[in-house]
Amino acid sequence: MLTKYELKMPHAVFSGEDALHKILDIFTENQVKHLAVFTDKGIEGAGLLDFPMAKVKETGVEYTILDDLPAEPTYMEAQKLVDQCKAYGADFIMAVGGGSVMDTAKLSSILMTDEYGIKELLDTPGRAKKCIPTLMIPTTAGTGSEATPNAIVAVPEKQLKVGIVNTNMIADYVILDAVMIKKLPRKIAAATGVDALAHAIECYTSNKANPFSDIFAMQALEMILANIETACDDPEAMDAKNKMLLASFYAGVAITASGTTAVHALSYPLGGKYHIAHGVSNAILLAPVMRFNEPAIRGKLAEVYDRCFHGSAATVEEKSAAVIAKLEGIVKHLDIPTSLTEFGVPKEDLEALVASGMEVTRLLVNNMREVTPDDARRIYQEVL
Ligand SMILES: NC(=O)c1ccc[n+]([C@@H]2O[C@H](COP(=O)([O-])OP(=O)(O)OC[C@H]3O[C@@H](n4cnc5c(N)ncnc54)[C@H](O)[C@@H]3O)[C@@H](O)[C@H]2O)c1
Ligand SMILES: [Zn+2]
Repeated sequence: MLTKYELKMPHAVFSGEDALHKILDIFTENQVKHLAVFTDKGIEGAGLLDFPMAKVKETGVEYTILDDLPAEPTYMEAQKLVDQCKAYGADFIMAVGGGSVMDTAKLSSILMTDEYGIKELLDTPGRAKKCIPTLMIPTTAGTGSEATPNAIVAVPEKQLKVGIVNTNMIADYVILDAVMIKKLPRKIAAATGVDALAHAIECYTSNKANPFSDIFAMQALEMILANIETACDDPEAMDAKNKMLLASFYAGVAITASGTTAVHALSYPLGGKYHIAHGVSNAILLAPVMRFNEPAIRGKLAEVYDRCFHGSAATVEEKSAAVIAKLEGIVKHLDIPTSLTEFGVPKEDLEALVASGMEVTRLLVNNMREVTPDDARRIYQEVL
């Protein structure tokens, strides 16, 4: 059987030292006149907007800064920025921030129309067309949002995070410059780094995995497994941080060509209802879901071992066990909680969690081992 593959990518990616200087060329190439800069107060407070804005001012383009955005916004909070962007009449969007900022900017780039808003896209994500070009400058490593066609918003009435997928949201330009993550606080670096790790291992072990996505997922895994701890622990480890930024982009490409699985599916209610940071909820579920999946993904995990580990495991079982132990070890090393106890999730909420998690069929179908409500219950019980 001839299998079809699709890989959609940003038009241009600039990576490495001084990549930020490319802003000037990008604006010239696009004859930008009215720029909307998406960011948030945390980014501005960390001084991360200073250099990009100095470059913007050099070009003399008119601009507006849209920064009234909380982390992991609801669709209504994101819609406010979309409306501001529309009212300003922007002809180009530059996003400087983590996944929350980039996702909102991506939604805006397809919503410069009065016909519908984010709420409508929750049900019919495919209806929106590309309106204006985008440049993504991630400040976490990360969600990989700069590579994906996805935007994730919280939907309070469903108590869930919901992913809107539309290939028109794929960024036009991406700048991966590790100076943007140099001072990322360890706690955020750890959670966002494990998010990238989850993207890579889930995409590699997904029903949707294919030769395109495997290349990016495996390369991301190799770089993340070798660098995540150093990048988080050592503020001066620029080489490790650079590799994390590149790897999180690769993992985003893997999402675009493949798809995440039950770790992300079961983590959405934890973000939606208890506002646990996306990377943290994934980190909590990573090892339990991988252990559950192990019988179905043993061979794939052994491939990860063969490429990324230099140990003495001989059998497929030993290799897959070593990979799962390493994932668990990374989460512990980075001091990310491994259970929900400290987030005040009451045990009585178990059934509601199971029901919400089972709603995320978009990702559950990607899981190589079928997840029944009983399975979801056991996995949540393990971390409650
Ligand atoms: N679109 C996708 O493909 C995709 C994939 C995974 C996750 N997501 C979504 O992305 C969001 C999470 O994004 P995130 O994990 O990047 O975090 P975030 O964007 O929510 O940022 C978290 C906090 O870190 C601060 N911050 C970010 N970078 C910083 C830096 N360099 N220095 C200091 N502070 C900094 C921000 O101000 C914010 O307060 C969630 O909504 C998640 O669902 C999207
Ligand atoms: Zn994620």
